[in-house]
Amino acid sequence: MLFNFLTIVISCSILPKWSVRGQTRPNSTFYNPILPGFHPDPSCIFVREWDNTFFCATSSFNAFPGIPIHASKDLQNWKLIGHVLNRREQLPRLAETNRSTSGIWAPALRYHEGTFYLVTTLVDDDRPQEDPSRWDNIIFKGKNPYKSSSWSIATHFAFQGYDTSPFWDVDGRSYISGAQAWRVSPGIYQTTANLDTGEIREWKPIWNGTGGLAPEGPHIYRKDGYYYLMVAEGGTGLGHMESIARSKNIDGPYEANPANPILTNANTTSYFQTVGHADLFQDPSGNWWGVALSTRGGADYLYYPMGRETVMAPVTWKKGEWPVFSQIRGEMSGWVFSPANKNIDGDGPFINEGDSIDFTPGSEIPAHFTYWRFPISDSFTMSPPGHPNTLRIKPSRLNLTALNGNYAGPEGQSFVGRRQQDTLFTYSVDVDFAPKVLEEEAGVSVFLTQNHHLDMGIVMLPGTSSTTPFPGTNSTQASSTELTPHFRFRGESYVPVPAPIITPVPTAWINHRLTLEIKAFNKTHYSFSAGPADAKSQMQTVAVVSNDPVSWGFTGTILGVYCTTNGGSGNTEAYYSKWIYSPQGQFRD
Ligand SMILES: *[C@@H]1O[C@H](CO)[C@@H](O)[C@H](O)[C@H]1NC(C)=O
Ligand SMILES: *[C@@H]1O[C@H](CO)[C@@H](O)[C@H](O)[C@H]1NC(C)=O
Ligand SMILES: *[C@@H]1O[C@H](CO)[C@@H](O)[C@H](O)[C@H]1NC(C)=O
Ligand SMILES: *[C@@H]1O[C@H](CO)[C@@H](O)[C@H](O)[C@H]1NC(C)=O
Ligand SMILES: *[C@@H]1O[C@H](CO)[C@@H](O)[C@H](O)[C@H]1NC(C)=O
Ligand SMILES: *[C@@H]1O[C@H](CO)[C@@H](O)[C@H](O)[C@H]1NC(C)=O
Ligand SMILES: *[C@@H]1O[C@H](CO)[C@@H](O)[C@H](O)[C@H]1NC(C)=O
Repeated sequence: MLFNFLTIVISCSILPKWSVRGQTRPNSTFYNPILPGFHPDPSCIFVREWDNTFFCATSSFNAFPGIPIHASKDLQNWKLIGHVLNRREQLPRLAETNRSTSGIWAPALRYHEGTFYLVTTLVDDDRPQEDPSRWDNIIFKGKNPYKSSSWSIATHFAFQGYDTSPFWDVDGRSYISGAQAWRVSPGIYQTTANLDTGEIREWKPIWNGTGGLAPEGPHIYRKDGYYYLMVAEGGTGLGHMESIARSKNIDGPYEANPANPILTNANTTSYFQTVGHADLFQDPSGNWWGVALSTRGGADYLYYPMGRETVMAPVTWKKGEWPVFSQIRGEMSGWVFSPANKNIDGDGPFINEGDSIDFTPGSEIPAHFTYWRFPISDSFTMSPPGHPNTLRIKPSRLNLTALNGNYAGPEGQSFVGRRQQDTLFTYSVDVDFAPKVLEEEAGVSVFLTQNHHLDMGIVMLPGTSSTTPFPGTNSTQASSTELTPHFRFRGESYVPVPAPIITPVPTAWINHRLTLEIKAFNKTHYSFSAGPADAKSQMQTVAVVSNDPVSWGFTGTILGVYCTTNGGSGNTEAYYSKWIYSPQGQFRD
């Protein structure tokens, strides 16, 4: 079923009623995902001391800024309020990761005695499993999540594994648990730890899970005299699920819940699949909620360009019993929400907002804009002299694939974008770009990873290059070997992509500001179009492409702009303006 944004807003206010202790109170209705787009491995907390606010952290892999934090006061309106990893000196090694699946894996966000703790792992997935330098386990601390600079640099601790999560016991002792799913006998390990210094004792195995693949994503909760250990199993694909065990002793032995798995959509026909990697928290009324990751693509598991997104479910957790999750669907009913409250600090947008950005002089790069690893900062300039209301991008020698589809080294890539957060959308920018040298290129991309992206650029090529005349025109330069700007669609993926489509920029459009547009016009396909910025009626479609080639791996698509010499000698900059992202619908069930 398709809901557009307007429908969602309206339907949130049409609520069923039921009676609690004589009062009539509405149960909540809400829609998954709560954090659409590339927001996997959620970890959420409720912090009374910070004006009764919920905070969620999610994985960011090689994206920078990394580890976004979203906040809400009503579990309905979620706002990006900042990023834990927001400056190079916090974790310089993010520049060196050598694989698309590398970078920041699952964060665990907790609040303890006035301090926010974020424990996570920088994984260099290219190194062997048994190489300790593959797993860089780290702790960030912050006093004010609305202020990026309040997050500390990383404190490192030794663990040959990932998905590390902290726990403070009532006796004052603190612990970290983590996953070593890669071992011959995979399992969850735990140690006492000093979360301030990173000092750890001895990693001890505490639970092997229920026998599913890759027990991981552990979190410990203390309730009614038990330690509950909740883990993900089954791998992060269609077999993904969440299981739980408990013990009166934090070191175990842990006894598995007979009702495991407590959360999964495996073996269902639901549009929401791969549900798992969960976390639990309470609201101001003491009701329990769970978050998890899920991909929207059904059991075919072919078309899910937004990757692993954050979903939420009410949880019933009676005294002395096991927690019970509601099954993940698009439309959910759950515990009563606090009244809607959008009064939240922080620079970022609310999660359902589109973009209409003019790069006004004096403004900053918007908080939700994302690079791939650290940007070369002087490559991105807002409204440079003589070019007001533009974002100037200096070309990188490397293109979006860069060195081997996995590595970019210190040179980096000139790319910046925003997450795709809607099944249907239109994204467009205007660009002034006058290439001079062979292979100079500027354009728009649906970027998933360096080895999975779909690009439409304006690129300098010999006139003989075209594979097709531009629709509705005659390709007058087709026989010339003189360099001339072309539109080029090109895709990179492990899944077959169409051959490049190359067509000369119509002569009348050369030296004009052009509009480049990407549109997800249905659940499975994007169109890439171009035309003169001052005559939108002349827009022409350059390519229609499946999103299957960008449905892969751990991340989700980012829509953005790039500028590259493709290894050539040029240095022509691109000036982007009128950045628009319009949400046009979510498919939910
Ligand atoms: C990146 O990985 C590739 C393939 O494993 C390897 O050949 C290359 O040396 C690595 N580069 C760096 C800088 O680690
Ligand atoms: C996990 O499995 C291994 C191999 O069967 C076993 O030796 C170990 O005791 C188990 N660990 C726990 C905590 O149950
Ligand atoms: C899904 O079905 C397969 C095959 O019957 C089974 O092995 C697996 O345990 C099931 N997964 C869940 C989470 O129920
Ligand atoms: C309201 O939501 C809670 C949590 O899921 C559930 O236990 C309860 O049955 C719901 N009440 C109604 C009337 O649907
Ligand atoms: C393309 O060329 C043909 C033959 O020269 C001409 O008749 C036609 O009008 C041209 N079309 C455009 C759009 O320029
Ligand atoms: C989306 O449109 C493409 C191209 O018109 C078509 O091939 C595809 O079947 C459509 N997908 C859906 C889900 O309707
Ligand atoms: C990227 O650039 C390299 C040369 O640096 C080139 O061989 C390759 O075709 C380009 N690929 C893409 C997808 O841009």
